[in-house]
Amino acid sequence: MVVGKPLFTKEQIQERIKELAEKISHDYADKDLLAVGILKGGFMFFSDIVRAIKVPLSIDFILASSYVKNNTTGEVKVHYDIKEDVSDKDVLLIEDIIDSGITLNHIRERVLARSPRSLKICVFLDKRERRIVDVPLDYIGFEIPSEFVVGYGLDYDNKFRNLPYIAIFKKSVRI
Ligand code: IMP
Ligand code: MG
Repeated sequence: MVVGKPLFTKEQIQERIKELAEKISHDYADKDLLAVGILKGGFMFFSDIVRAIKVPLSIDFILASSYVKNNTTGEVKVHYDIKEDVSDKDVLLIEDIIDSGITLNHIRERVLARSPRSLKICVFLDKRERRIVDVPLDYIGFEIPSEFVVGYGLDYDNKFRNLPYIAIFKKSVRI
């Protein structure tokens, strides 16, 4: 297994987060923001972006999985759900990456069913060309090509999440 050189360095990541957080702070100035981190992959992006957001907020998490190794199964399982009452909250879902859109679409509909005051989505990475289900995105860190990436919360087989940068992942070829 090979992890290539950074696609986005620590510095590039932090710079982009600052920009996104400024926009979010502006947009939520008069709102009651509930930032919801989508686990596991979103944990690192979530912790960085909430620290950069300048308006008061509360936090919660949802733990969902839909991925088996390199393939999207199309099935989304929620292992831990939002505990907060969202009916008087402006919910912002914070996710590491959108690929087919199946996971975020499922979570979005699940939250919408509980009638939040508003619902927006912030994703760090967008693999737009892979989309199967269209999901409205409000804040996007970077658009990336259709490559499997790891680091900064993103995993392969639950590994590499601790890398402080994003890298393209390749399985090594044995001859
Ligand atoms: P989707 O349901 O196909 O949009 O997949 C979204 C989920 O798949 C994300 O929450 C990630 O956990 C995972 N995923 C998609 N692409 C990658 C990748 O390049 N690296 C690591 N995880 C990924
Ligand atoms: Mg994820």
